[in-house]
Amino acid sequence: MKGIILAGGHGLRLYPQTLAISKQIIPIFDKPMIYYPLSVLMMAGIRDILVISSPEHIDLYRRLFGDGSALGMRFDYAVQPAPEGVAQAFLIGESFIGNDPCALIFGDNFFYGSSLPELVERAALHRDGGLVFACYVKEPERYGVVEFDERQRAVNIEEKPRHPRSNYAVTGMYFYDNEVVSIAKTLRPSGRGELEITDVNNIYLRRGMLKVERFDEGIVWMDTGTPESLLEASNFVQAVEHRQGLKIGCVEEIAYRKDFIDRDQVLRTGNLVKDNPYCEYLRRLCGTDSPGGPAE
Ligand code: DAU
Repeated sequence: MKGIILAGGHGLRLYPQTLAISKQIIPIFDKPMIYYPLSVLMMAGIRDILVISSPEHIDLYRRLFGDGSALGMRFDYAVQPAPEGVAQAFLIGESFIGNDPCALIFGDNFFYGSSLPELVERAALHRDGGLVFACYVKEPERYGVVEFDERQRAVNIEEKPRHPRSNYAVTGMYFYDNEVVSIAKTLRPSGRGELEITDVNNIYLRRGMLKVERFDEGIVWMDTGTPESLLEASNFVQAVEHRQGLKIGCVEEIAYRKDFIDRDQVLRTGNLVKDNPYCEYLRRLCGTDSPGGPAE
């Protein structure tokens, strides 16, 4: 399965933080925002990644990840000339996707939970149709909202409805079979002028090919596109990392645990900076008293 991280858009709600840099590079506590969604795709076992960003920002991501070999992965990069909608990712990524199934995740979405690794591993095995996740939220009108019938089956998804039919928002993480490319080609811009991911999902839904899986309460989902949500996510990561001594979204650690890279490769990054908590963590991971026990 291939993975696309969408890291474009204007980031206007974070202005002036986004005046000179890309939103998805802004840190959530101790690492760039994009590390968190990347780590979720890695947990799913995905090693081929396409990062899509704006023409002015794409080189920042090239500098961040290079060809991906430091993580035992392969990274490609593509430009979205203008933010004309999330579903455009499948048109821009058509040759990258080739004949494979594809996952899409937003560079500003944060997911955390002990059941998450198993959940996404399973999602990546999903081969027929689409699989999306729904999360119970207080303000569903900000999102794509799932409508369920009396038997609790998803029957429709409505983008930013004025009168939401449920409190279940579709999160910014999607798993599709290869049909998604042809479906994206049939889309027309919505009222807000965008190729909508909700339209893709509704097409799958009408064909009886969309699975909507609800998160349990143990999974945290945040989108980090406003100053408040950014701070909340940073505080959350800081609290968990401080309390447990374990890192969230540490891509080298996940690459190691997934066997994408070996101990020497972790140490190569761990030895980059001497007095730095992130590098110290990686060195500790390779030592005998590694955090969370020795990595298998
Ligand atoms: O966060 C989940 C929600 O994401 C879903 O519930 C909605 O159904 C879905 O439409 C989307 O809602 P938003 O309209 O809030 O998405 P936003 O414009 O924030 O874009 C999501 C991410 O993708 C964000 O990091 C910016 C990036 N982006 C967005 C667009 C429209 C791009 O890179 N290119 C684009 O063209």
